[in-house]
Amino acid sequence: MGRVATARRWARHSGIRPVAEVTGSWLATRFAPGWVRRNTAPALHDFVSCGGPLAGSAQVFLTRLGWAAAEIEPLTCEYEDVARRLAERYEATDLAFPARFGVEAETGFFVYAATRLLTPQVVVETGIADGRSSFFFLSALERNGQGTLHSFDIDPRAGGLIGDHDRWRRTIVDRAEPEAAFIAALRELGGVDFFFHDSDHRYLGQMVEYENTWPLMLPDGLFASDDADVSRAFIDFCRARERRPCFLFDNRKITGALRT
Ligand SMILES: C[S@@+](CC[C@H](N)C(=O)[O-])C[C@H]1O[C@@H](n2cnc3c(N)ncnc32)[C@H](O)[C@@H]1O
Repeated sequence: MGRVATARRWARHSGIRPVAEVTGSWLATRFAPGWVRRNTAPALHDFVSCGGPLAGSAQVFLTRLGWAAAEIEPLTCEYEDVARRLAERYEATDLAFPARFGVEAETGFFVYAATRLLTPQVVVETGIADGRSSFFFLSALERNGQGTLHSFDIDPRAGGLIGDHDRWRRTIVDRAEPEAAFIAALRELGGVDFFFHDSDHRYLGQMVEYENTWPLMLPDGLFASDDADVSRAFIDFCRARERRPCFLFDNRKITGALRT
C-alpha cells in the first residue's frame, strides 16, 4: 500500500484527515504527503497501547530490541571509559548549546551499546548540538573499527565536542529549507543501518525525517527517535505501519525504536 493510501487509511481510522487534503501545508505536501499536522503530545496510554510497557533502563530497552543481556553486560565497562573521556571533553570545550539539549544518561548508553551490537556501516543522526550523542556513536564506531556517522544540523556551531574525526561526516543544512537538503544527502547514502532522530521535534519535522529515511533502512537495522514524547509523530508512524516499537523512558524524555 502506498504512503498516501496508508495515511488515508490511518486518517479514516483516527477520524482526522490528512493535512495535504485539509490545509495544503507546503511542508507536508512536499516531504510527507498525506500526513496530518498534530502538535499535541501523546499520552502515557498511547505509548503503552502502541508499544507495551516502557523500559526504565537502556539494558531492558536493548533486550526488548532483541539483544541478549549477556551481550549487553560487557559494554557497561566500556561505556564507563567513554563517559569519562566525554566528561574530559566537556571540561575542555566552550559549549554553544544548553546542556539539556544532549541525550540523557540511559539514551547515551543505548546509543553506544546499540552501535557496538549492530556494527553498522552507515549511521545517520539528525540534531548534533554540541555533539553528545555524536561522541557516543563515534566512540562505538571506533571500537568496532568500521562504519561512518553522518550527522545533520542547521547550526554551524554544532559538534564542538568532536572537532574532526575520520569516521564523521558533519553536514550543516540550510536552515531555510533543511528538509530538502537532508533528503538529498540521504539519497546519496543509499542504505542506512542505524537512524537516530534528535533534531526538529515538531510533528512535521519528525514525520518528514521518518518518512524519508524509512524506505532506505537496511534489513536488521535500527530506527530510533529521541523525544518520541514531544509530538505524536513516532506513534502515528509506527501505527500506520502496524509496527510495535519499544520505548525507553529516560529521566525526562522518551526514546522510541524499531528493528527493521
Ligand atoms: C536536541 S539538540 C541535539 C542534541 C544532540 N543529539 C546531543 O545529544 O547533544 C537539537 C539540534 O537539532 C538542530 N536542529 C533543529 N532543527 C533541525 C533540522 N530541521 N535539521 C537538522 N537539525 C536541526 C538544532 O540546531 C540542535 O542542534
